Amino acid sequence: MYYFDIHCHILNGIDDGARNPEVTAQMLKMAYDDGIRGIICTPHYQPGTFDTGKAERVVRVKHLREIAQRFFPDLRIYEGCECFSASGSIVEDIDRGLSGTLADSRYFLAEFSPYTPAQIIERRLMDILSAGYWPIVAHAERYYAFEDENFRNHIASFAYIQMNADSIMGEDGPKIRKLARKMLSEKIVSFVATDAHGAHHRIPKLSECAEYICSNFGEEYAETILCRNPESIIQNTKI
Ligand SMILES: [Fe+2]
Repeated sequence: MYYFDIHCHILNGIDDGARNPEVTAQMLKMAYDDGIRGIICTPHYQPGTFDTGKAERVVRVKHLREIAQRFFPDLRIYEGCECFSASGSIVEDIDRGLSGTLADSRYFLAEFSPYTPAQIIERRLMDILSAGYWPIVAHAERYYAFEDENFRNHIASFAYIQMNADSIMGEDGPKIRKLARKMLSEKIVSFVATDAHGAHHRIPKLSECAEYICSNFGEEYAETILCRNPESIIQNTKI
């Protein structure tokens, strides 16, 4: 099984991800060595903090793709964005060439703060859906609102849930690990990604987590959330 990372801050100098081109190159090699064969580059878009627009992201991704093709010809690289969605203008910002979707599909990676109230998360996800996009909640295990089982089941009924591999493996502490594993056992998770930010901490690595999911929840589920569902994003088909 190969892996497909739909959430990765591998582009350098654009947000709080890779600090320079050397780190980007290290991350590229780490991802490839780990068995990752597809990466969607998802720098943050957060008005006032990380404002890089789509045009700049496209240029940077094209450059990274050229480098990747030289060393790892079977590694696919796509442009994307992780959009801080607690405020109301994120969807409109797509038309303005600022925020954006994953790999030019209808899938939209929406980030919130750990403290964003449940009602705001629900409303914003509904806004995204109403605008014709398919919302994916980035690292839902980090948000307090998702501790409520009814709430997370409700969200999973109309949005997709993405989880970080590090959270599942305990890198973000036992509380987040517990919730992450609970949500996996409930089979409400549609994607597991690295959310990698560098080559030392939060690195582009999925294999260890894949083994954990295979052993505890079955190979079929592991393949679905690490490979098949990401391919649906590239095909722009609904899961
Ligand atoms: Fe992220």
